Amino acid sequence: MSVEFRNEEEAKDYANYTLGVDDDAQKRLVLQSGITREMMGVVLPPAVIAHLKAISEKGERPRIADVGTGPGNWLFDARAQLREAGISAILDGYDLYPSLFPSEEKQKAEDIKFSELNIHTREQFESIGKYDVMHIRYLSAGIGPEQWDAAFDNCLSVIKPGGIFVWEELLLEKMSINDPATWKNVLRMFKLNWSILRRNDVDPKLSALFGEHLEATTREEFTTKNLPEKWQRMQAVNMSMATKELVEGASKHGDAVVKHLGLENVEELQALLKLTQQDFRDGCILHMPVNRWMGVKPLAGENPGRPVDDTYNPDSGKAKRSWVESIRRLLC
Ligand SMILES: C[S@@+](CC[C@H](N)C(=O)[O-])C[C@H]1O[C@@H](n2cnc3c(N)ncnc32)[C@H](O)[C@@H]1O
Repeated sequence: MSVEFRNEEEAKDYANYTLGVDDDAQKRLVLQSGITREMMGVVLPPAVIAHLKAISEKGERPRIADVGTGPGNWLFDARAQLREAGISAILDGYDLYPSLFPSEEKQKAEDIKFSELNIHTREQFESIGKYDVMHIRYLSAGIGPEQWDAAFDNCLSVIKPGGIFVWEELLLEKMSINDPATWKNVLRMFKLNWSILRRNDVDPKLSALFGEHLEATTREEFTTKNLPEKWQRMQAVNMSMATKELVEGASKHGDAVVKHLGLENVEELQALLKLTQQDFRDGCILHMPVNRWMGVKPLAGENPGRPVDDTYNPDSGKAKRSWVESIRRLLC
């Protein structure tokens, strides 16, 4: 069903989540998850594994939540890594759109529970229990500028004191094209007024929230630029499919949304999509810069109020010390 908007203001706010939630979207998320794994290495950083091991050694089963999990790819990778580390954890995936969840058989085989949850609905967080690790990846398209604080607070409310919060996001405003002079259609597509995605404030927002509410906070930077050729090609397919999802979402909502983007009508947007997809087939690569924020929830009554360590290097003594201190305080 298409929805028409009376004015630009209404058009700008046309959807809470602008990417697809159907079978094609599920396929793209599997692809994107593979690219991310290749870019980041293992999904659970060493500090998280150390935390989970310490809980296991006390005879407990650590609890891990993945919010905005989609088809649950991060959880499946986490399960494999945990098995290798000999950690038996409880894994729960949450998403607003259960249509994206994997089959019942797969959920059972991997012993992962999937449930519907909206990151913006506080009451839904009140009944899900507390977690040792909370993870979020690529959910910013579902969070408007005025929704960050409450969404973050909802997640914090279910993390145990001393528990770890990990949030990974793509920085749209820092994306780059391999050869901008050649790939004019992709460049034009990405210069459209996609502020409709409402996510340009991801970087300052997450840095501020982690600095304000968590301790031993770190931020790591990753990019698809350094991947081998095979994965660069997959990144091109990923971006081509994502562009199609965005264009289909905008087209479905009619000319008011398309005008907000800066084009005359749906036909013009569809024509630009075709040219853009051809650019991706011909060799254009749109590189994906991804940041990972991580921090420890303070024990009751503490307010860290420290800035995020932007120069985080997991191998540096400084970073290790601050994580070790936080985790030691939790366990003592
Ligand atoms: C780009 S996908 C990322 C999926 C998964 N985290 C991954 O990395 O493969 C964003 C996910 O957020 C979900 N989502 C969007 N709005 C949401 C909301 N308000 N609450 C919970 N999940 C939401 C979508 O359904 C989708 O599965």
